[in-house]
Amino acid sequence: MSVVFDQLSRTFSEFLLLPNLTSVDCTPDKVQLDSPMVRFKKEEESPLRLNIPFTSAIMQAVSDDKMAIALARNGGLSFIYGSQPVERQAEMVHRVKSYKAGFVPSDSNLTPDHTLADILDLKEQTGHSTVAITDDGSPDGKLLGLVTSRDYRISRLSTDTKIRDFMTPMDQIIYAEAGVSLTEANDIIWEHKLNQLPVIDKDGHLLALVFRKDYDDHKENPLELLDSHKRLLCGAGINTRDYKERVPALVEAGADVLCMDSSDGFSEWQRDCLAWIHKNYGSSVYVGAGNVVDAEGFNYLAEAGADFIKIGIGGGSICITREQKGIGCGQASAVMAVAKARDAWLEKTGEYIPICSDGGIVYDYHMALALAMGADFLMFGRYFARFDEAPGRLISLKGSYVKEYWGEGSNRARNWQRYDAGGKGGRMAFEEGVDSYVPYAGPLKENVRASLAKIKATMVSCGSISIPEFQRKARLVVVSPTSIVEGGAHDVIRKENELR
Ligand code: IMP
Repeated sequence: MSVVFDQLSRTFSEFLLLPNLTSVDCTPDKVQLDSPMVRFKKEEESPLRLNIPFTSAIMQAVSDDKMAIALARNGGLSFIYGSQPVERQAEMVHRVKSYKAGFVPSDSNLTPDHTLADILDLKEQTGHSTVAITDDGSPDGKLLGLVTSRDYRISRLSTDTKIRDFMTPMDQIIYAEAGVSLTEANDIIWEHKLNQLPVIDKDGHLLALVFRKDYDDHKENPLELLDSHKRLLCGAGINTRDYKERVPALVEAGADVLCMDSSDGFSEWQRDCLAWIHKNYGSSVYVGAGNVVDAEGFNYLAEAGADFIKIGIGGGSICITREQKGIGCGQASAVMAVAKARDAWLEKTGEYIPICSDGGIVYDYHMALALAMGADFLMFGRYFARFDEAPGRLISLKGSYVKEYWGEGSNRARNWQRYDAGGKGGRMAFEEGVDSYVPYAGPLKENVRASLAKIKATMVSCGSISIPEFQRKARLVVVSPTSIVEGGAHDVIRKENELR
């Protein structure tokens, strides 16, 4: 006879937090949102911590190098998607690790033989008005000149004029050499009243551009997530098939933490992958495992040596696993069950294994609920897919801007390793995800700032200024369907609706 649990499996929208006493010194500016990321001994510190409890999903439509840079600059961490060739994924990790704030690789490059028309086309595509002119038109070719909007007047210059005839040539350009610090570069910019400063190596090849407008940028990112060499932290997804090739390449590229990406992580494949990594790298490489939804799954992966454990089956916005396979669990119930197992593990072994709630976050208040229920950090796909920095295309659809967002189990991504059931493999027998659009929401920074402000406000209402305190003090209630209706604006005619 199969086991049938008495308890319903529930999701975030079915819960609310009750307020606790807020003391006068419990204010949003005091709230700290840093959180442990990998296994550590009681009384010690986790060797890897997040400055904000946000990570971005291991997905093609979410986590490339651009997203990883933007998120780490704001205190969180991306796991670069693994459903791509090993070299390409390692190259993305490398780009994040070699990113230097203020030093921008040139994204608009042409040769002297291109024309004004090419400049105008490029400007249209990138929105940038500085074009580096290199011998081969590549971002790291030999720098021969620069073109900015000061170099041409469209009304006076024919569009077929060659760039060599109107660019500012090298002998009139002030530049800096490799090794220049950002402070030195900014001093040169201010001294010579420049808008941009090219940085070149000893052979004259372009390395980067420093822009005047980025001067104060680093001051705006006080939560930047950095390693001991002041490089941004970067994670990467792996699978249980090609890890013997993928892991060495990612470690070599500088990945700080890896995570097995699977829709069902309660498997011997994950145990074997963890064992191989520990045998070859000891404890120098951190690896997360999952996804699981209960104590059984948690204990298995904890036993197998996972550094953190990810929770969530079937709750993702693009996910159809529950419909296709009938496997999964309401995300809130899963987080609470796994948090209980994590605490029991701590009690038993003296080791704390951080847990991550992955998928199913719809409203910002769900983030606070997931943390209150015991998650140490969160992973989002849909949330980040809406931002400028996400890889999906921006499209105008029926008068609104949307971005593309597709599941790893959709036919578009074809990440069969994530849905691998063993055996010969190599193909997906059926889809477990959809291809979709999400409403475009603008830059990551402003959105993350707004979400964090809401989490802090919730924590303050619950009388807490740190995540562990919030978890200790939180009191949750299950809400009835009618009280959910009561929670929104009701029985009024909303002005925005009337105007629509
Ligand atoms: P979201 O934040 O609700 O959009 O959920 C994102 C999470 O859904 C990811 O981190 C994955 O765990 C999961 N996921 C990604 N692609 C698929 C898919 O195609 N099917 C099912 N789950 C997926």
